[in-house]
Amino acid sequence: PTVTFSPDNTSVTAELPTGESVSVLLYGATVTSWKDSSGDEKLWLSTAAKLDGTKAVRGGIPLVFPVFGPPPSAPHPTANLPQHGFARTSVWEFLGKSTSESTPAEGAKAADDLSVKLDFGLSAASLSAETQKLWPFKFNLIYSVTLNPSTLTTSLVVTNDDDKPFDSQVLLHTYLRVNDISSVSIQGLSNSPYLDKLLSPQAQTSGPSDLTITQETDHVYSTPNGASDPVTVLENGKPRFVVTRDNLAQVVVWNPWTEKAAGMGDFEPKGGYKNMLCVEPGAVGTWQTLEPGDAFEGAQTISIAN
Ligand code: BG6
Repeated sequence: PTVTFSPDNTSVTAELPTGESVSVLLYGATVTSWKDSSGDEKLWLSTAAKLDGTKAVRGGIPLVFPVFGPPPSAPHPTANLPQHGFARTSVWEFLGKSTSESTPAEGAKAADDLSVKLDFGLSAASLSAETQKLWPFKFNLIYSVTLNPSTLTTSLVVTNDDDKPFDSQVLLHTYLRVNDISSVSIQGLSNSPYLDKLLSPQAQTSGPSDLTITQETDHVYSTPNGASDPVTVLENGKPRFVVTRDNLAQVVVWNPWTEKAAGMGDFEPKGGYKNMLCVEPGAVGTWQTLEPGDAFEGAQTISIAN
């Protein structure tokens, strides 16, 4: 595998010998591109997304930490943070790459087993003084992005480096690229009660067996078996992505639809909502309380199903 930096050193791209690639912007450790061997892009990225560090990236995989959505009001320690926290708007450090090659099964090409992992780090010390004040805890984040020929895994480890406990939430805000939202269905969430964020109060309800998206959708599912059930995104009844999770018991399904897309300055083209679906594994149902020295790890693996 090759790992190269952009000329301005703001982004790192890994490519497998078989042609698959992934690009990660140091700003937010945001995955901005994931391509298969034919160069076909798997993630949706707005053509108006800011990639210069002035705003969270609209598309790809922004990272949500330490609060999901608008923070609760004071005295909660996250009360002064912006929506979705600061991980997606902080500049991360590239910690290095590792590659692995398992012994290929008989008949398989060696290259099929190749993978590359990129590690990124963020800690309290590297935040601006202003952000440190907004959330005054010593923490360490390690984010690993692993590319295999047909899967992408992103995994976040949160460590409490403070001498007091802290609460946090984590979410991997993945914008999947689809050909046409009207032919998309989502399986694997029918047994999961969800909060509909568009209702007030946010009513808890349970879903149809095959979820389709025909209007603005903003659901927070809590999967009853924890993180063990995969979520499958189908197009015209054919599986396209399978999302498996580790330790992330919630899944947010979000599509802004026409009006919300029109209202977002960095959402282009305006019809782009037809080509995206956010499936966001997270630990956001409650707060993860970490005692000093303890760590929390959550991960997703997205497999290309066709
Ligand atoms: C989703 C939330 O995760 O992110 C939505 O459930 C929100 O409520 C969306 O609108 C986008 O958030 P932002 O801050 O990137 O515009």
